[in-house]
Amino acid sequence: MKENEKTRGFSTRLIHHRGSVCPHTGAVSPPIYPSSTFKQQGVNEHQGFEYSRGRNPTRQVLEDYIADLEGGERGFAFGSGMAAISSCFLLLSAGDHVLLTRGLYGGTYRVLSRIFDRFRIQFSMVDTTQVAAVEEAIRQDTRVLYLETPSNPLMEISDIRALSEMAHSRGLMVMVDNTFMSPFLQRPIQQGADIVIHSASKFLGGHSDLIAGLVVTRGEDLGRSLGMVQSSVGAILPPYDSWLLVRSMKTLEVRVSRAQESASRIAVWLTGRPEIEYVYYPGLPGHPGYDVHLRQADGAGAILSFRLSDRVSAPSFLRGLNIWSLAVSLGAVESIVTQPAHMTHASYPVSLRREVGVTDQVIRLSVGLESPDDLIADLEQALDQNKE
Ligand SMILES: Cc1ncc(COP(=O)(O)O)c(C=O)c1O
Repeated sequence: MKENEKTRGFSTRLIHHRGSVCPHTGAVSPPIYPSSTFKQQGVNEHQGFEYSRGRNPTRQVLEDYIADLEGGERGFAFGSGMAAISSCFLLLSAGDHVLLTRGLYGGTYRVLSRIFDRFRIQFSMVDTTQVAAVEEAIRQDTRVLYLETPSNPLMEISDIRALSEMAHSRGLMVMVDNTFMSPFLQRPIQQGADIVIHSASKFLGGHSDLIAGLVVTRGEDLGRSLGMVQSSVGAILPPYDSWLLVRSMKTLEVRVSRAQESASRIAVWLTGRPEIEYVYYPGLPGHPGYDVHLRQADGAGAILSFRLSDRVSAPSFLRGLNIWSLAVSLGAVESIVTQPAHMTHASYPVSLRREVGVTDQVIRLSVGLESPDDLIADLEQALDQNKE
């Protein structure tokens, strides 16, 4: 990126980025190159592309785009968020240990507990809202501190800068899953993180029509190491999906801004309802970690959770909703409601769910782009129907 481009506003950088105009034709939508291989002039004499598992021109546009938005050196596009997360864990070796935010996405817990565990990569969960607790949990073999902030689904806030400083002083690498915020609201590399991960199936894709994962690394060495994993393991995003993701990301700011406004209204409305015991939303001034979140992010986002009182049956409340789609996933144009205990966090053992507070009464909302009045009216009628 040229120096003057770094100073441009985020919305301008979303539209005008490296590769946004095809240098050969002037097309303002980057071309899709389905080619698996590239003709060479002589052995190893080529124009930067040899074989699409290693590098593909359409994927390259996406990878440069996300690297610039997150402020890192290199971007990588994978076939899913889980492929991205797993590829990052493949930077580790047998005998290494990972410290994780407690109550993070269930799939991350599952891949570590069911797959990486078999390769002797161990993990433990810790309350990453407390820097001292994290420092105390570091073992001799701990290599990575892996954060989700806000966490999923209880929106707990971890201080990326303070944790990165502490973790670096102990020789750890810091990875942050930034899916809930997107680079529009939070850029962890600027706060000291080494690796940022996205399930791009969420806000970056934004239309529930794409499964993808993105990673951005800080520094040349880390970029080289993850590039080796990506091209060796090959969990890559295909060219058409890469193009679709670039197309979708152009509207990230308008989508997230509008959804965030509605989420904030819904959060306040929910706090006034007697059937709701607690609202988890980092935009509410009483939310634990509110000040830390305000310092490290540019907004509270479009995801919130709440705890229904025991007087309301969660399954009938969910069945009573008409506009909200009961579904796994988030960050889309349509509003989505999830019961994490039995959906996104089903792979947690019941005891762990209880320990971290993901009970059956916790409901997660991903606010979309419908009229906020309609979304509130739908919640209201479902709560009214289920009053005892
Ligand atoms: C916070 C978070 N990280 C990672 C993932 C995994 O992403 P994907 O479904 O694209 O594999 C998810 C998916 O729900 C998620 O919510």
